[in-house]
Amino acid sequence: MKTLLVLGTQWGDEGKGKVVDFFAQKADYVVRYQGGNNAGHTLIYENTPFALHLIPSGILFKNKFCLIGNGVVVDIKSLKEEVEFLKSKKISVTGRLFISQQAHVVLPYHILVDKVSEQGAIKIGTTGRGIGPAYADKAKRIGIRVIDYLEDENFEDLLDNALSDKLALLSASGVNIKKLKSDICRDRKDLVKFLKPFVCDTSLMIDEAIKKNKKILFESAQGSLLDLDTGTYPFVTSSNPVAGGACTGAGIGPDKISSVLGVVKAYTTRVGEGPFVTELFDKTGEYLRQQGAEFGATTGRPRRCGWFDAVVVRHSVRVNGIQNLLLTKLDCMRGIKEIKICTAYKYKGKTYTEFPASRIIEKNAKPVYETMPGFEESISKIKSFADLPKNAKNYILRLEKLAQAPISFLSYGPKRQETIAIKKGVKLL
Ligand code: IMP
Repeated sequence: MKTLLVLGTQWGDEGKGKVVDFFAQKADYVVRYQGGNNAGHTLIYENTPFALHLIPSGILFKNKFCLIGNGVVVDIKSLKEEVEFLKSKKISVTGRLFISQQAHVVLPYHILVDKVSEQGAIKIGTTGRGIGPAYADKAKRIGIRVIDYLEDENFEDLLDNALSDKLALLSASGVNIKKLKSDICRDRKDLVKFLKPFVCDTSLMIDEAIKKNKKILFESAQGSLLDLDTGTYPFVTSSNPVAGGACTGAGIGPDKISSVLGVVKAYTTRVGEGPFVTELFDKTGEYLRQQGAEFGATTGRPRRCGWFDAVVVRHSVRVNGIQNLLLTKLDCMRGIKEIKICTAYKYKGKTYTEFPASRIIEKNAKPVYETMPGFEESISKIKSFADLPKNAKNYILRLEKLAQAPISFLSYGPKRQETIAIKKGVKLL
């Protein structure tokens, strides 16, 4: 059995899209297991960058199967747009894109609730795609799954049930509930036709594929610090991007994950609100934003930028059982004279080497830094670890020591081929 799980070790945007695209070359199946169209994977295809939000990045390879697991929340309209966009690029998804019948659907009222919630006491800075409210309905047992959406018999009753739960909130925001309902029912007629051919039992499909010795790549969205359980709650997304989420979200047992690869950016970024101990508000932060083109793929928001936080990555290595790390965007740090790495936090005289759960500590802690010399040389033509400038090598070696996991791969540019193995004998798929 050969399966690989690829996930983000920070606050998302580590470059997973490119990494999944890279490993997808060797996979037969690529499976998304959580999140929704809040994710944005920027890929370079035939020299043109474009973003995928729901469909696994593997779709660019014409012979791969791409699955959207039961743990994903699906905005069907947005999915349709993505499929049409791919068609316009001559990439057909017919017969190789499959969606779990148990995935929950995101409906327009989720997006409305998301907007209203953001005006409350705690602003999360969500992507505004209705993701949190859709997962909330799932947990409240009033969600509508893909299979429910397809079945005429129950749909209106389920819709009434879900809407009645939000009546007060939607009415207070001036929403015409009757119109909202009739719009959803009208759109559904077309969307059911679109959706039906893609729907199946993806858990069973994965199991059968594994039995046939097919190679499976599980693709996480967001990052471990945005995880509902292990992240900077409440400034998190509403699903489980961590490795454990792949079991529930793809419908597999833990024995079906052969290996976990953590994608880690050479510095740190975050979009939206929430604690960020190593955030930079100075010229270096701006330099990283410009060099790394750190603007959200989904919302276009400028990403907050800061130094590498080893407390965060060590936490991720542990909660995910990461065996190997893949370092991205080291090339974007070229030209920085002195690089800082956060090794611990300090708050009220106490040093924290493990990621704290307290919102107060997360918000007010100060970083403990060590400093290393930066590098000036271009790394765009490297073929191996040995080709890297000395200071870049030392930086990588220090990061892996602090993170407590080997950095086995390096991505040194946005293109798929700009990725190399830097440890001998590591073969993941
Ligand atoms: P939501 O997922 O839209 O509910 O947003 C919750 C938090 O997760 C916000 O801080 C978002 O900015 C963040 N977030 C959601 N998706 C992504 C992503 O793909 N990359 C980075 N941050 C994300």
